[in-house]
Amino acid sequence: MSTALITGGSRGFGRALTSALLDRGWDVVIDGRDAASLQETADGLTATKPSGRLRAIAGDVTDAAHRRQLRDAVDQPDGLDLLVNNAGTLGPSPLPRIADLGPQQLRAVFEVNTVAPTALIRGLLPALRRARGTIVNITSDAAIEAYVGWGAYGASKAALERVSAILAAEEPELTVHAFDPGDMRTDMHQAAFPGEDIADRPTPEEAVPALLDLIGTTRGSGRHRGPDLVAPAGGLL
Ligand SMILES: NC(=O)c1ccc[n+]([C@@H]2O[C@H](COP(=O)([O-])OP(=O)(O)OC[C@H]3O[C@@H](n4cnc5c(N)ncnc54)[C@H](OP(=O)(O)O)[C@@H]3O)[C@@H](O)[C@H]2O)c1
Repeated sequence: MSTALITGGSRGFGRALTSALLDRGWDVVIDGRDAASLQETADGLTATKPSGRLRAIAGDVTDAAHRRQLRDAVDQPDGLDLLVNNAGTLGPSPLPRIADLGPQQLRAVFEVNTVAPTALIRGLLPALRRARGTIVNITSDAAIEAYVGWGAYGASKAALERVSAILAAEEPELTVHAFDPGDMRTDMHQAAFPGEDIADRPTPEEAVPALLDLIGTTRGSGRHRGPDLVAPAGGLL
């Protein structure tokens, strides 16, 4: 059985991806800060998924002790097949222009979107190397486009993309992707567009097949945009 660690699995894209991997018989570990909603998600998925195995560990990815708990949960002799750094924060909503962005607000966004994923990768490298595993760092078009108000989030995702590319060069036996799922109708997206009707955005479930395709086939490390990828085509999944 293949094993995956998906941060931020209680809702949105992380939950949709977890559901899809369980359908394919994976052993999945998820986290999230709100223990009650994480447990509710885990109970719901476990009740409807006969194939895979799901473990939920509540905590904050910025907390080193929690990251050690995650590492201990997936550090097995065969190694870790897949790490998805999905948990993320937008920062303050409404989104402030850089003129109004305080250093503490900027630091807080980088802690979740850049520092924590990099630290988690570092702790899991031995297990990932054993399995010749795959790392997926969830990024955004805000990493490369200059959207007004997206300074903290965009800069943190751009930094995560640099980490991804450099890690791929340093660890050629691993596959390291920066994956932009495209717009999705989630809590984070609503916070980015407060008061706006976002019903026309694709659901997170609609974004999942592109990532399954990426994981399941033998594309090399790189930056990938979900909407550009074709439908699932066999392979590992
Ligand atoms: N939605 C979009 O349009 C869009 C577009 C491009 C990229 N993305 C990226 O896609 C990823 C998923 O976003 P989403 O839209 O699905 O967001 P979401 O619906 O807000 O879900 C975020 C998930 O991450 C968890 N989380 C947040 N901060 C955490 C922390 N510090 N420690 C542990 N878990 C944490 C949340 O649970 P708790 O709140 O309980 O911790 C939740 O399970 C993010 O990396 C985001 O930047 C989203």
